[in-house]
Amino acid sequence: MKKSKVTVVGSGNWGSVAAKLIASNTIKMSSFHDEVRMWVFEETLPTGEKLSDVINRTNENVKYLPGIKLGSNVVADPDLDHAVKGANMLVFVTPHQFIQGICNELVGKIKGDVEVISLIKGMEVTMEGPRMVSTQISQHLGINCCVLMGANIANEIAMEKLSEATIGYKENKDMANRWVQLFTTPYFLVTAVQDIEGVELCGTLKNVVAVAAGFVDGLEMGTNTKAAIMRIGLREMMTISNLMFSSVRDSTFFESCGVADLITTCLGGRNRKVAEAFARNGGQRSFDELEAELLQGQKLQGVSTAREVYEVLSNRGWLELVPLFKTVHEICIGHLPPSAILRYGEKKTKL
Ligand SMILES: NC(=O)c1ccc[n+]([C@@H]2O[C@H](COP(=O)([O-])OP(=O)(O)OC[C@H]3O[C@@H](n4cnc5c(N)ncnc54)[C@H](O)[C@@H]3O)[C@@H](O)[C@H]2O)c1
Repeated sequence: MKKSKVTVVGSGNWGSVAAKLIASNTIKMSSFHDEVRMWVFEETLPTGEKLSDVINRTNENVKYLPGIKLGSNVVADPDLDHAVKGANMLVFVTPHQFIQGICNELVGKIKGDVEVISLIKGMEVTMEGPRMVSTQISQHLGINCCVLMGANIANEIAMEKLSEATIGYKENKDMANRWVQLFTTPYFLVTAVQDIEGVELCGTLKNVVAVAAGFVDGLEMGTNTKAAIMRIGLREMMTISNLMFSSVRDSTFFESCGVADLITTCLGGRNRKVAEAFARNGGQRSFDELEAELLQGQKLQGVSTAREVYEVLSNRGWLELVPLFKTVHEICIGHLPPSAILRYGEKKTKL
């Protein structure tokens, strides 16, 4: 059997942890090449050194995952074309605003039998409606794409604390199982479900609920209020998903990618953190400013996803069905104060 060669496209916080997980498996399994290439969007560090050089010298991503050894078989590569050359399994894990540019650069350079998995959360809004990141990748590059989402705060998995994740696939169960094999470790438990849209929408939409949870924290409203926001948020996630794709299964919301990811993101994630600061400042400091100050180069997803969902739903006349999501966006753009999250007036939605 031909050995599979894996490249991770992206090297932020989650990208680096994904490379570590995968590398710990490829080195043990004879059906994979030991080496895992990790494409690095090159940066010059304050010391004057290139990030990729430092990763290869120290085996650590000192900027996005300091203090964690990635595995001696992880090789950082700042040249995208070179990094994907010869690989037949690609793991896409960058902030979603960069995926279009990456796909543009890779068009024509990837063979049709290459398999991709996306760990990216987000969507694109087109005239025809929403286009999930996995669809963007599949259509652009003409290849099959699965997704992996879950209750996965990257820093905790880096420290090998027990977590679960969900792989979503369309038709090819064998390929989904191959991805399960590549990612599963004793502390990272992965299952596959045949509901790619459901898995990806869960991972994407929960970031908007996390922004709402952050507002509640910033307003010092306490646990009951936060739980209420999470419950309503989950229900609106189900409403939106069913409106966008009738194939989405309710059971998917009870996988790691659903309720578990929602809980962890509303308790600990970066969207919650920045939204809390936004509310504490009464909406007077912008998300861009707070992101730069609090995340040190990491990217926020919830604010842009709130805008994208708002655009899709308003184009279709569905906004009134999801008042929490609508309110989050209107707070983010300054049309409402953060305290509006507490009095948007929940409407009864039909599931
Ligand atoms: N960090 C987590 O805990 C976590 C967990 C699950 C999923 N995710 C998802 O994983 C995806 C990647 O997030 P992350 O945490 O690895 O990244 P990150 O936010 O930690 O880092 C940002 C990355 O973007 C790169 N970058 C900056 N400008 C760029 C450009 N112009 N083109 C390409 N790349 C550029 C940076 O070099 C860096 O690698 C996101 O969709 C995120 O929602 C993150």
